[in-house]
Amino acid sequence: MSLTLSKENYFWHKVHSLTGIIPVGFYMLQHLALNSFALAGPSYFNGVIGFFAGMPWHILLILEITAIWLPLVFHAVYGIFIVGRSQPNYFQTKYGWSQNRMYTFQRISGIILFFFLTYHIIITTANKYVNGDEVIRYAGMHNYFAGTWYGLPVYAIGVLCASYHLCFGIWNFCIRWGITISDRAQVKVQKFAFAMFIVVTLLGWSALVGFLIPKYSQATPSYSAYTQSSV
Ligand code: HEM
Ligand code: HEM
Repeated sequence: MSLTLSKENYFWHKVHSLTGIIPVGFYMLQHLALNSFALAGPSYFNGVIGFFAGMPWHILLILEITAIWLPLVFHAVYGIFIVGRSQPNYFQTKYGWSQNRMYTFQRISGIILFFFLTYHIIITTANKYVNGDEVIRYAGMHNYFAGTWYGLPVYAIGVLCASYHLCFGIWNFCIRWGITISDRAQVKVQKFAFAMFIVVTLLGWSALVGFLIPKYSQATPSYSAYTQSSV
C-alpha cells in the first residue's frame, strides 16, 4: 500500500516538476516578452492583443485549455499539496544555508503566485470574456495601473515571485532530473538561475513602466488618442 502511494507520489511529483518548465515556464517567458511590447507603445501592445483576438475562437480556446489552463491548474493545486505536506527546513538554524533558503523561498513564492495568478486571471482573461477585450488593450491596462494605488505593487511583487519561482525552479529541476550531479555543476546552474532571475524580472517590470509612463509610448501623442485606438 505504502509502495503504491509513494510510487504515485513519485510519478505525480515528476509530472508537477515537468509542467513547471513545459508548458508553464515557456508560456510565462513568452507572455512577459509580449507584454513588454507596452514599452514600445500602445500600437505594439494592441497588435499583440489583436493577434490573439484575431485567431479563430475555438482554436484559441483549445490552445488556452490544453497549453495553459490544465497544466497550470495541475501545477498550482499539486504545488499547494506539496507545500502542505512539507517540513520547512530553513528556519531551523542548523539547516539555514543558501540552498535550503532558495528551496524554501521557491515554495513561499509558489503560494504567493497562487493568489497573484488567481487575481490576475480574474481581472484580465475572465474580465475580457465578460466586458470585451478593451479591458486588456493598452488603454484598459493603463487605466488600471494609473488609476489604482495597488496595481503597481501587486504586479511588481507578482512578477518578482514568478521570476524567482521559475529561475530557481530550473536549478531545482536540474538536480531532480539528474542533469546536474556534481557540486560544481550545481553552482554553475545556480549562477545561471540568478542571472536569468534578473533578466526575467526586468523584462516583466518593463511592461509595467510601459503602461504607467505614457511618455515612453511614442505611437500616439496623447492618452485620449490611445483610448480610441482599437488595433
Ligand atoms: C507584467 C505583468 C503582466 C501583465 C501586464 C500581464 C498581462 C496579461 C493580459 C493582458 C492577459 C489577458 C490575455 C488574454 O486573455 O488574451 C493575461 C493573461 C494571463 N496571464 Fe498575464 N500578465 C503579466 C504577468 C503574468 C505572469 C507573471 C504570469 C505567470 C505565469 C501570467 C500568467 C497569465 C495567465 C495564465 C493568463 C491567462 C491566459 C489565457 O487564458 O489566455 N501573467 N496577462
Ligand atoms: C500558481 C501557483 C504555483 C504554485 C502553488 C507552485 C508551487 C510549486 C512548488 C511547491 C514547487 C516545488 C516542488 C518541490 O519542492 O518538489 C514548484 C516547483 C516549480 N514550479 Fe511552481 N508553482 C506555481 C506556479 C508556477 C509557475 C507559474 C511556474 C512557471 C513560470 C512554475 C514553475 C515551477 C518550476 C520550474 C518548478 C521546479 C520544478 C522542480 O522542483 O523540479 N510554477 N512549484
